[in-house]
Amino acid sequence: MSQFENLRRIRSFVRRPGRLTPGQQRALDELLPRYGIGEECDDLRAAFEREAPLVVEIGFGNGQALAWMAANEPEKNFIGIEVHEPGVGRLLRSVEADGLENVRVAMRDAVEVLREQSVPGSVDEVRIYFPDPWPKKRHHKRRLIQPPFLELLVERMAPGGCLHLATDWAPYAEWMLEALAEVPAFTLQGDPFVDRPSWRPRTHFEQRGQRKGHQIFDIVCRLSR
Ligand SMILES: C[S@@+](CC[C@H](N)C(=O)[O-])C[C@H]1O[C@@H](n2cnc3c(N)ncnc32)[C@H](O)[C@@H]1O
Repeated sequence: MSQFENLRRIRSFVRRPGRLTPGQQRALDELLPRYGIGEECDDLRAAFEREAPLVVEIGFGNGQALAWMAANEPEKNFIGIEVHEPGVGRLLRSVEADGLENVRVAMRDAVEVLREQSVPGSVDEVRIYFPDPWPKKRHHKRRLIQPPFLELLVERMAPGGCLHLATDWAPYAEWMLEALAEVPAFTLQGDPFVDRPSWRPRTHFEQRGQRKGHQIFDIVCRLSR
């Protein structure tokens, strides 16, 4: 094994070179300084002026679901984490257009954000909708939902906190259940799947999956400690 092997970290995403529209570029230039969370922030809650339950959405894609949820649950603070620049630009435009004061954005690997920028017990809810399924066996190690990642969530989430996962890829749904079974702090709230909860709108990738005839799987669990 090379001496650099340990330094290479497997990421759950590839940076897609998506083209930014002028509106998205403007949003990144003008709105990211206002709504973005810099890497120097070491407690995500400090990104807001008010104290409120904190919801983190990981991999929000084009951000339309996040904007909808934030408008629908104004009593909560929402942090979206996404590495895809056009998606971040699009969300920022919605945040501005809809006057959403309860949304902040971290444009960085969610694993790093949670590990380095959140404190234990500080996150009330984590929502991860349609994470990249990495269908090929040799890519399974790239899947975001893995026991070590779930252990990180256990540490960062508040007791009784809610983790909500959704996927349209049946083998990933089974994989999620197997990963959760290795982390007993999470208790499933379903049998094991639930109908789409009222707080989750249909997402862009969900609709893509449905057009291909895929079944949708929602998994909700609580941190029982
Ligand atoms: C398949 S898309 C789903 C997007 C959206 N949730 C939806 O349902 O339409 C997955 C998204 O997760 C993002 N992503 C994957 N791994 C990530 C990570 N470690 N940190 C931040 N974003 C990540 C990708 O950039 C991508 O936009």
